[in-house]
Amino acid sequence: MRKLFSFLLIGAMAMGMTACASNAPVKSNEAAATTAEAPAEAPAEAPAEELPLIGVTIYKYDDNFMSFVRQNIEKAAEGKAQLIMNDSQNDQAKQNDQVDAMIAKGVKALAINLVDPGAAPAIAEKAKAAGIPVIFFNKEYPEGTDKVGYDQAWYVGTTSAESGVIQGELITNAWKANANWDKNGDGKMQYVMLMGEPGHPDAEARTKYSVDTVVAAGIQVEELAKQTGMWDAAKGKELMETWLAAHGDKIEMVICNNDGMALGAVEALKAAGYFAGDKFMPVVGVDAIPEALDLIKSKFMAGTVLNDAENQGKATLELAVNAALGKDVIQGTNWVLDETRAVRVPYVAVTE
Ligand code: GAL
Ligand code: CA
Repeated sequence: MRKLFSFLLIGAMAMGMTACASNAPVKSNEAAATTAEAPAEAPAEAPAEELPLIGVTIYKYDDNFMSFVRQNIEKAAEGKAQLIMNDSQNDQAKQNDQVDAMIAKGVKALAINLVDPGAAPAIAEKAKAAGIPVIFFNKEYPEGTDKVGYDQAWYVGTTSAESGVIQGELITNAWKANANWDKNGDGKMQYVMLMGEPGHPDAEARTKYSVDTVVAAGIQVEELAKQTGMWDAAKGKELMETWLAAHGDKIEMVICNNDGMALGAVEALKAAGYFAGDKFMPVVGVDAIPEALDLIKSKFMAGTVLNDAENQGKATLELAVNAALGKDVIQGTNWVLDETRAVRVPYVAVTE
């Protein structure tokens, strides 16, 4: 299993940047303004105006994982595109208005993280009427992007089932390596499941394939509770409190569709005296956000699955720029499209 060494990478990048900065000739906006014949009002903006204008929505800024995807879209856009960014605040009606407003502003492409995955055809309809392409990302239309009714619509995300399978493998390996996790010694794994948003392909697939994979590996399971925590740490904490009150140490495994909810579950467990002395509870998530990696290092979490925010952000931006310029969407990139017009970035298992 691969571990994460992105810290090293970031360090190397910072060093590279320092080296560049000391060698590069000093430029300033003032110098540009006096030497170029650009209009005096906004000289620094002149080059940026030539970059394609792309309209982006994030379903809500207040989502742990999506904040990383957003940062990576912005990073990838440097020197390549001008962005209009929108926080849709978990409100599809608001997102629809944002899309109308961006079309009115003349965006050349849309990059849309839907609030409701089922709203893809409605958004595609708006893009089609305006004659501009749309790249959906992170929330996939459940029937497939080739079914949204617009041939200038693409998707960037993952193969949802993959994260469930990897999480299931991670659980299987850990369970088999720790005989004492079967607290009541009945040979079965009693688990609780914190689900993401209902109807979200990632949530549905993770819920199914995590458990299917454990069962296929020959481990008997018993579900004690399963409910949606809507990807959210506070809701995850609340549900875990409720389940601890109802089942206590009958719970032997906490499976979370994402790290956000796992963080909440760990909070509830800590407050109930777990992770002190020999009171232990395995918790697994998906995403590999920095807080979860810290919890894995300190053994409060048993593992997670890397959901590659960097490459999903990069691919989204690259496809959107190509589409905005009227090029083949994957031209000049390493991405491949599947038969539903989707780019799928792989997941990677992460343990201590
Ligand atoms: C998932 C991610 C979740 C949440 C969700 C939003 O891929 O694992 O944490 O961000 O996307 O759609
Ligand atoms: Ca048991």
